[in-house]
Amino acid sequence: MITQIKQLLKQKNAVLVAHYYVSGDLQDLAQETGGIVSDSLEMARFGQNCDADTIIVAGVKFMGETAKILSPEKRVLVLDEQATCSLDEDCPIEEFSKFCDAHPDRKVVVYANTSAAVKARADWVVTSGSALTVVKHLHENGEKILWAPDKHLGRYVQNKTDADMLLWQGACVVHERFKADALSALKVKHPEACILVHPESPQAVVELADVVGSTTALINAVKDRDEQTFIVATDNGIFHKMHQVAPSKTLLEAPTMGEGADCESCAHCEWMAMNSLEKLLSVLQTGENEIKIDKNTSQQAQHSIQKLLDFTEK
Ligand code: 13P
Ligand code: SF4
Repeated sequence: MITQIKQLLKQKNAVLVAHYYVSGDLQDLAQETGGIVSDSLEMARFGQNCDADTIIVAGVKFMGETAKILSPEKRVLVLDEQATCSLDEDCPIEEFSKFCDAHPDRKVVVYANTSAAVKARADWVVTSGSALTVVKHLHENGEKILWAPDKHLGRYVQNKTDADMLLWQGACVVHERFKADALSALKVKHPEACILVHPESPQAVVELADVVGSTTALINAVKDRDEQTFIVATDNGIFHKMHQVAPSKTLLEAPTMGEGADCESCAHCEWMAMNSLEKLLSVLQTGENEIKIDKNTSQQAQHSIQKLLDFTEK
């Protein structure tokens, strides 16, 4: 199957752009074939800069939409059209528009994990790797902010920057399950361990962290820091890359069990898990699952995403 996929990628001048949460075989294939595996910010930048005719996104819907918005002339395919994100689903455009209309004095800053229509309504789009610097910049320029959709990331940015932020109340179903009580207990067993936390996690979990950051920042911490043991509070798909960059280090999953837990080991995004080699082969053969976005929405959204790409390049 892998040989067939490689041939088709070449034949169709297509490139595979994968997120760190998809399966290891897809991540490796993206890298071996001249594509990329990265966080959502670099996925967006790579798609825009590559000269392929077709971008195939192994991730979730908003990542495919962002790629299409930034490269309207390219064909963008996703592996499963049902692969979405709870943050995107929690922020429907009709309600979000009313929220924005009620606060016209605020700059609208939205997380990349949103629909094209929500991005089109925003002044700025940010990712976990760029939210702090963008909000700090706006705050220093005297702007008040309306933030959506992730309440945990919003509160983290608010605490760090002291900006005046009004928060939409969305959450990531995966990160919200990490439990601070069980994480503290695990740290007692491994006092030497470094705790890495993605900022979509609840405040009590973030407060226990030695490093808070995007998926790329957490992988770099495993590679660059001196500790031998790491407790990782993010989707466990990230362990594939962490093991590759630091094979001798010990990696432990942050617990999702604890007070109020509803499942035993749930640090894996069910939508990211919908991506597979079989589906990749199928979209290459059929050209199905093409992302289509209405022109007006796309042009407006492009403006707010491009601002981020230009800002983070400085
Ligand atoms: P990153 O931008 O840190 O890769 O995060 C994307 C995401 O969906 C995390 O759940
Ligand atoms: Fe969305 Fe959370 Fe899945 Fe990331 S891990 S795609 S934020 S549901």
